[in-house]
Amino acid sequence: MNNTYYQSLIDTAKAILEENWVGTHTKPSFFLYPHQWNWDSGFISVGYSSYMQKRAQQEIYTLFAGQWKNGMVPQIVFDPDSLGGYFPEPGFWQTEKSGLVKEGKLTSGITMPPVHATVCRKIFERAKDKKESEIFLENMYPKLKRFHEYLYRYRDPKQEGLVYIRHPWESGVDNSPTWDKPLKSIKVDKSKLPPYERKDLSKGVPKEQRPTDEEYDRYVFLVDLFRRLNYDDIAIDAESPFKVQDILFNSILNRANKDLIFIADIIGEDSSDISKLASKTTASMQKKLWNRKQGIFNDYDLYNDNEIGVETASGFLPLYSGDATVKQAKKLYKYLESASFCAMHQGNCFSVPNFNMMHEEFDQVNYWRGPIWINMNWMLYHGLKSYGFREKAMSVMEDILELVRLYGFREYYDPYKGMGYGTNSFSWTAALFIDTVYEMDYPEEVIM
Ligand code: GLC
Repeated sequence: MNNTYYQSLIDTAKAILEENWVGTHTKPSFFLYPHQWNWDSGFISVGYSSYMQKRAQQEIYTLFAGQWKNGMVPQIVFDPDSLGGYFPEPGFWQTEKSGLVKEGKLTSGITMPPVHATVCRKIFERAKDKKESEIFLENMYPKLKRFHEYLYRYRDPKQEGLVYIRHPWESGVDNSPTWDKPLKSIKVDKSKLPPYERKDLSKGVPKEQRPTDEEYDRYVFLVDLFRRLNYDDIAIDAESPFKVQDILFNSILNRANKDLIFIADIIGEDSSDISKLASKTTASMQKKLWNRKQGIFNDYDLYNDNEIGVETASGFLPLYSGDATVKQAKKLYKYLESASFCAMHQGNCFSVPNFNMMHEEFDQVNYWRGPIWINMNWMLYHGLKSYGFREKAMSVMEDILELVRLYGFREYYDPYKGMGYGTNSFSWTAALFIDTVYEMDYPEEVIM
């Protein structure tokens, strides 16, 4: 099978991106997510990179135009023309109190997984106009570097080489079961919470596919804390009851560190400081976040000082970042290739479910508590391939293609039934589908 076989789906994917493109950036989905989202834009640019270099670059430029003065790239850059349909929007975030938001920009006050150096490298490698892509790298390098430096400066208090997230939304896997324990330990007095109204439930997505009200209360509690502290990183570090060294976030960061070093080499910059940080991150991941008993990586709750022993697809991402030792990689493979995460020849499921299917709380329809997400498959496909697990890599890739072929460009998919949930015409599903088909025709070199 090749590009031709999938041509009509590629056409649909491109049409979805076109429909969600608003002239400066691409909405993740037209109604449910009407602004610009941080890691979405990264994945979306990967899709554009194979056929529209300028658009791929523009997507990233627009996102980074919202970069804060301290280097943080916000989770959401709001589109002033699309306000009113999402919660929380600028009036709730009140990020102007920080003094860190650029003039004329409206953003949320937290960040997201830093996929962008990896994406910029991809854009460069695929560029038709090499000269322009070099200028793009030159423009982006200092911004990317400041983002990574922000993370190590403010999110790694013990200088372990592991950065923490301060809100579940920063991970991108909003209601993953990983957050249950740290969130439950936050005592919320409902009478003191600012009034708010969820908007996600009025957009046609069933309640059972979305986070609960209890979770939302805690999401809001944290945002309220940050805005009361005027988004001061030091004050938040001292007061926030949610600080998690997330394996997904750190894997994506370290993959991006390596790609930042690659970019520095291309444009003749010195990246020795990033190299040092990257090695430290690798070592700490291998040591602190490895769960030897289960054969998977876990998150660490810095606030409560304990391991979060919950097995989700995030725990395999050191394959994507190249940070698992060979021994760890073999164990990861064994666990990934088991009934817990839908083994290859099982026949009754698609891979990769976001949560251990054998767990009593596995939920095949609920958002990040069971369903398959195409961006996770995409990262795992690349990771498996780079470690030489070719058959499994192909099977994870085939499930990207099959899920889309059978059930459309959905936000997430049921690992048993395949059928799609959440929003339709989801941008990163479209973009990464385009990339996956492109990869079949023009496979990348093994980069690790
Ligand atoms: C949801 C997802 C998050 C994504 C956003 C926009 O909040 O959990 O990962 O970035 O939607 O698509």
